[in-house]
Amino acid sequence: YYEDAAPIEVRDAIRTAGKGKILDQNYPHSVRLNRKNYERDMASLQIELVKMQAWIKQSGQRVAVLFEGRDAAGKGSTIKRFRENLNPRGARVVALAKPSEAEQTQWYFQRYIDHLPSGGEITFFDRSWYNRGVVEKVFGFCSDDQRERFFRQVDGFERALVDDGIKLFKIWLNVGRAEQLQRFLKREKDPLKQWKLSPIDINGLERWDDYTVAITETLERTHSQEAPWTVIKSEDKKRARLAAIRHVLSELDYDNKDDKALGTVDKTICGGLDIWNA
Ligand code: ADP
Ligand code: AMP
Ligand code: MLT
Repeated sequence: YYEDAAPIEVRDAIRTAGKGKILDQNYPHSVRLNRKNYERDMASLQIELVKMQAWIKQSGQRVAVLFEGRDAAGKGSTIKRFRENLNPRGARVVALAKPSEAEQTQWYFQRYIDHLPSGGEITFFDRSWYNRGVVEKVFGFCSDDQRERFFRQVDGFERALVDDGIKLFKIWLNVGRAEQLQRFLKREKDPLKQWKLSPIDINGLERWDDYTVAITETLERTHSQEAPWTVIKSEDKKRARLAAIRHVLSELDYDNKDDKALGTVDKTICGGLDIWNA
C-alpha cells in the first residue's frame, strides 16, 4: 500500500541496503551511529538540557524551537529526546491540528500566538506556521494569494518575536526518499506507531518532487538574519537528534555549561541552507 506509492528505484534501494547502512548516497556517513556512542553522548547532553531549563526558569527566558521536515523526518522523536528529563511544566509541545473553521477565518498566525512561550518556558513546535509554505501548497489547502501573503508577513512576524526577546530556533529535518519510505513501512507494521501515519503521508509519497519545490522555495524565502534556518540531515536519526540538541545548547548562554559534555555539532550534517542544497 505504501510501497506502491514509491518508484521502483526507491524500493530497490531499501531491498539492497545492508544492515545499518545509510540509504542516501549523499549522506556524509556510510553507516549509522552505533548505539553505545549515541547513548553515551545523549546521556551527557541530557544533563546539559536540565541545566539549560534551570537557567531558562531562573532568568525568565522564552525559547521557541520549531521543527519542520517531511513526514517521518523525525520531528516528534527528536522533540521527545529534548524533553525526556525536563520538567514538562515549562517544556511544552505544540502540535496543532488542521485549522478549524473559525481559525480559517483568522489571521493565519493568530492561532500560533497563544502557544508562544511565557517567561521561564521552552516550547517545542512539532510543525508550525510553515505548513502554509509546504504541505498546504503541495495539497492545495491554501490559495496562492494566501501563500504569498504568508511569505510577505512571516519575516516581520518572526522579527517581532525575536525583537521582543524570544529565542527562536527553526530546525529543518531533512530525510531522503528511501529512508522516508522505510520509516513508513516500519510504522505500518508497528501497532504503536500506526497513529503517526495519515492519508497525507501516502499521498505525499507520490508528491515527493512537489514537496522538494515547495521546501526549496520556503527555505530560501524565509531564511533571515534574525531567524535563520538550521538544516539537519536526519537520514541517521541518532546523529540528527544529537546535532539538534547540541545546536540549541550551543546557542544558549546557560550557567555551568560543560563544553566537553556538549561536544561539537557535526557540521557535515548540520548547518544552514548549504546543507539543504548539498
Ligand atoms: P503529521 O505528519 O503532522 O502527523 P499529517 O501528515 O496528517 O500530520 O498532516 C500534515 C500537516 O498538514 C498537519 O500539520 C496537518 O494539520 C496539516 N493539514 C492536514 N489537513 C489539512 C487541511 N485540510 N488544511 C490545512 N492543513 C492541513
Ligand atoms: P502546482 O504545482 O501549483 O501546479 O500544484 C499542483 C496541484 O496542487 C494543482 O492542481 C493545484 O490544484 C494544487 N495546488 C497546489 N498548491 C496550490 C495552491 N497554493 N493553491 C491552490 N491549489 C494548489
Ligand atoms: C516525524 O517523524 O517527522 C513526525 O513524527 C511527524 C510524522 O511524520 O508523522
